[in-house]
Amino acid sequence: MTELDFPGRAAPVFFERETDSTNTRLKAMAAQAADGTVVAAGRQTVGRGRLGRSFASPEGGVYLSILFSPHSEPSRCLTMTPTTAVAVRQAIRRVCGVSPDIKWPNDLQLGGRKLCGILTESVVSCGEAKIVVGIGINLNTRPEDLPPELRSSACSVFSVTGHITQPKLLIRELVTSLDTMYARWLGDPHCALDEYRSACITPGRRVRRGNICSEALGVDRDFALLVRLDSGEIIPVTSGEVLDA
Ligand code: BTN
Repeated sequence: MTELDFPGRAAPVFFERETDSTNTRLKAMAAQAADGTVVAAGRQTVGRGRLGRSFASPEGGVYLSILFSPHSEPSRCLTMTPTTAVAVRQAIRRVCGVSPDIKWPNDLQLGGRKLCGILTESVVSCGEAKIVVGIGINLNTRPEDLPPELRSSACSVFSVTGHITQPKLLIRELVTSLDTMYARWLGDPHCALDEYRSACITPGRRVRRGNICSEALGVDRDFALLVRLDSGEIIPVTSGEVLDA
C-alpha cells in the first residue's frame, strides 16, 4: 500500500492498485487505525455489496473505504450512510460535472442506471464500535468490463459523459467531501437531510418488502422511506426493494 500525500490531514489515505476488498482491508486495520483512515483501490478481486451480494469492481472504478470512530450510539450512526451518499454526490459533481440521483437508501444513479453503491459495516475493537463505510464508483468503467447481467442496469461516468477522469482527482475530492461532511455530521446527524431529499428519486416508485407492495411517498427525518400500503396506511420502512418505474 502506498500512502497518498494529504498535507494537514490527521489520518492517512492509502492506495493500492488491487486489493480483495477495501472494506475488508480497513476492517482488519481498524483496531490500530486513526479516525478517518482511508483505503482506496483501483480494482477489487472480492468486492462486496449489500445483502451479502458481490460488487463487480473492475479496473476503471474507484473503490474507497473510510473508517469512522464517532463514539456515538448505534442509532445515531444510522444516518451516516445516507449522509455519505450526499457527500459522494457532491464530490462527483465537482470533479465530473454530473449530478447523480439518489435511489433510496444509498445508491447513486445517472439516467436510472447505477453509478455507485455504498456498504456500511461496523467493527468492534477494544469494546468500541467503529464504522467502515465503503464506496464503489463506476468512474471510467466500460460496459464490457462489467458482468453481462449488469450492463443494462449500471453505468459509469465515462459511459454517460464520454470523458475519462483521473481516479486520484476523484479520490482527493471524495476524501475532502467526506471529511467536511463528517465534521458537520458530528454536530448534527441530520445535516444532509435536505440535500438527500431533493436528490432522492424514490418517492412515487413502488416498493416491495417480501410479498407486500407499497408506494414510496417521501423520506422521514431518520432517512427511513415513508410508504403508503395498499390499505392506505402510511408507515416508515428501513428496508425494501425499490421497483424500477
Ligand atoms: C452495494 O451497492 O451493494 C454496495 C456496494 C459497495 C461497494 C464498495 S467498493 C468499496 C468497498 N469495498 C467493498 O468490498 N465494498 C465497498
